[in-house]
Amino acid sequence: MNGPLIQLTGVTKTFGEGEAAFQALRGIDLSVDEGEFLAIMGPSGSGKSTAMNILGCLDVPTTGSYRFRGVAVDRLDRRQRALLRRRHLGFVFQGYNLLPRTTALENVELPLLYRGVARAERAALARATLAQVGLTGWEHHTPAKLSGGQQQRVAIARAIVTRPTVLLADEPTGNLDSEKGQEIMALLVALNRDQGITILMVTHEPDMAAFARRIVQFHDGRIRSDSGLTASAA
Ligand SMILES: Nc1ncnc2c1ncn2[C@@H]1O[C@H](COP(=O)(O)OP(=O)(O)OP(=O)(O)O)[C@@H](O)[C@H]1O
Ligand SMILES: [Mg+2]
Repeated sequence: MNGPLIQLTGVTKTFGEGEAAFQALRGIDLSVDEGEFLAIMGPSGSGKSTAMNILGCLDVPTTGSYRFRGVAVDRLDRRQRALLRRRHLGFVFQGYNLLPRTTALENVELPLLYRGVARAERAALARATLAQVGLTGWEHHTPAKLSGGQQQRVAIARAIVTRPTVLLADEPTGNLDSEKGQEIMALLVALNRDQGITILMVTHEPDMAAFARRIVQFHDGRIRSDSGLTASAA
């Protein structure tokens, strides 16, 4: 493929209007190639989740442009953006919790149901993906009967069961102890390496960011540093 997978150019995001207006993003330029594993870091309130929501087509920039495989996302309508999201993007977001009274298997099947995949194929794909995240034998457990790390694995399985181009993960290890966090990171590294899934991950923890191959630092709605800039310019 020619050109970057993801390209943000001069992206700003303003919440509210007039006196109450707040500019959460103040001009973000970011280019990500297919196959990258990128960590986004930065202080609380620096705009990381706002940027992830835009990258995930859950929100749109106030100004600036977002291109996905060269397609101007900001010119797509709601329906087209939803299609792009369904076809290419997987999410592990704090707001995307598992359904409580629903088994691990059913949770992972859900995105396939939305895609109209037939029942038997749905179950087979969901089982295989749960196996991939190390949860064989746990298919029929509801989230309450799983540990935090296991729940996070289910969330990852649900995000990747559709074989997305990009996995967007906002603090995927946020609620886990360090050992569980390392296990989740090892899983993300394997997905990136073995399946070529491009990963964009927000984390506060330097230990977790160290697993990524590129680190982008946000500060006050801007990118303060980008370890990938020299590499991508070459
Ligand atoms: N829907 C919204 N309406 C108004 N302000 C918002 C909205 N979403 C975010 N903000 C503001 O934008 C700024 C950036 O928020 P964002 O959630 O992107 O920060 P963050 O870097 O993800 O922080 P954290 O590390 O705490 O998750 C914050 O000051 C926040 O209050
Ligand atoms: Mg956030």
